[in-house]
Amino acid sequence: MNYELRIEKMVQGGEGMARLPDGRVCFVQGGLPGELCKVELSQNKKDFTRGRVVKVLEKSADRAEPKCPLFGKCGGCSLQHLASEQQAPYLARVERENFRRLAHAELPEDFKIHVGPAWGYRNRARVVIARAKNGNVSFGFRMQKSNGIIPFESCPVLTPALNAFLKENAAKIFEESVKNNKRPPRNFELDVNLFDNGKGDVSFYYKGMTAKDFEKNAVSVVDIAGAQIRSDASVFFQSNLALLPELVSAVQTAVDEGIASGEASDAWLIDLFSGVGFFAALLKDRFKKITTVEREEGCLKHARLNLNGGAVQKNVENVSAAAEEWLVKNVVDVPATLIVDPPRTGLPVEALDAIVKSSVNRLIYVSCDPVTLVRDYAKFAQAGFSLKKAEGFAFYPQTPHLEMMFILSR
Ligand SMILES: C[S@@+](CC[C@H](N)C(=O)[O-])C[C@H]1O[C@@H](n2cnc3c(N)ncnc32)[C@H](O)[C@@H]1O
Repeated sequence: MNYELRIEKMVQGGEGMARLPDGRVCFVQGGLPGELCKVELSQNKKDFTRGRVVKVLEKSADRAEPKCPLFGKCGGCSLQHLASEQQAPYLARVERENFRRLAHAELPEDFKIHVGPAWGYRNRARVVIARAKNGNVSFGFRMQKSNGIIPFESCPVLTPALNAFLKENAAKIFEESVKNNKRPPRNFELDVNLFDNGKGDVSFYYKGMTAKDFEKNAVSVVDIAGAQIRSDASVFFQSNLALLPELVSAVQTAVDEGIASGEASDAWLIDLFSGVGFFAALLKDRFKKITTVEREEGCLKHARLNLNGGAVQKNVENVSAAAEEWLVKNVVDVPATLIVDPPRTGLPVEALDAIVKSSVNRLIYVSCDPVTLVRDYAKFAQAGFSLKKAEGFAFYPQTPHLEMMFILSR
């Protein structure tokens, strides 16, 4: 069923919001605020509907021609129809409204989104290499809602080094992986993680890689904010190296201000969801004692090296555990400096409760999902914390995703 709808605003996730003649909300993929669109419904629920634009009847001045030929087919980069320079202002409005709706409060006046390059920024990728029963090898991105593969030609959001690497090396990686697999089935699929360290060196990882190949091909070193951080393509690392120094600087300022104000102290830094010890490694000289906590075991050896060159130091502790378990077992009874950077799901409830019960009075919360961030903020607010600062970082241009940093204190 098709409707002619006027898009009222953009909502979380990048869809346009309109109303059907019967008053129900319609979330419209591909519609921009102010536009009149012909919309085909794809979901028809009792209290809301979903649809996609089949024709733009009155166009927004902010509409752009999508750059990628796979727009609409590949699951990523669904915001390409919005001009790059307008994406941060639109997302800022979405976040302000999101905060109002979910936390019943206003984001600070000075909330702003840091912006970096609009294209060629993404330094991490995951591709799949597949061999069909007939022996044909293909590789590309997985389709979002199915197991299909979109063949790779080039990707305008990936860094030039990743694009070049993928064109030249995909077949070689596949051959190597087949060699490493003692009895590869005829039809074979291999997920490969790739990482560009910003110096044009691309590392890669696939399951089943030998230890020797791992050292040679997966391990990587990134120069950032005057430090060298070791990581590898199998574990998490931030995916926008061009803008990352601005997040690092915001976190460093937040830490320094916390110590100067007396709300936090330099006695103990706790870096939860620490990955390879990223933030702690960049802050280590400021603290008397440091604890990093990360669940992924592959991060541990890097965290040790990033924090103390691999040597045992009694003031540095790199813990391989779930953050919530560590918090429940280790009562934080001093006003430590605390950084949390959880995955999209936000803070596990046990972690949030333990922080509220602890002596931590100031919290630096880095998030890649504004919805779970605001959900968690609302719980902290109920427990007496208030929002001191909010900053956004456009880490994922052409997509509706945003990195955020909140400073909370009580
Ligand atoms: C967004 S990343 C942040 C990593 C790091 N702060 C950085 O900037 O590189 C989240 C990290 O949390 C880890 N993680 C996910 N759930 C966890 C949990 N319950 N406890 C501890 N670590 C967890 C993931 O493995 C991932 O490394």
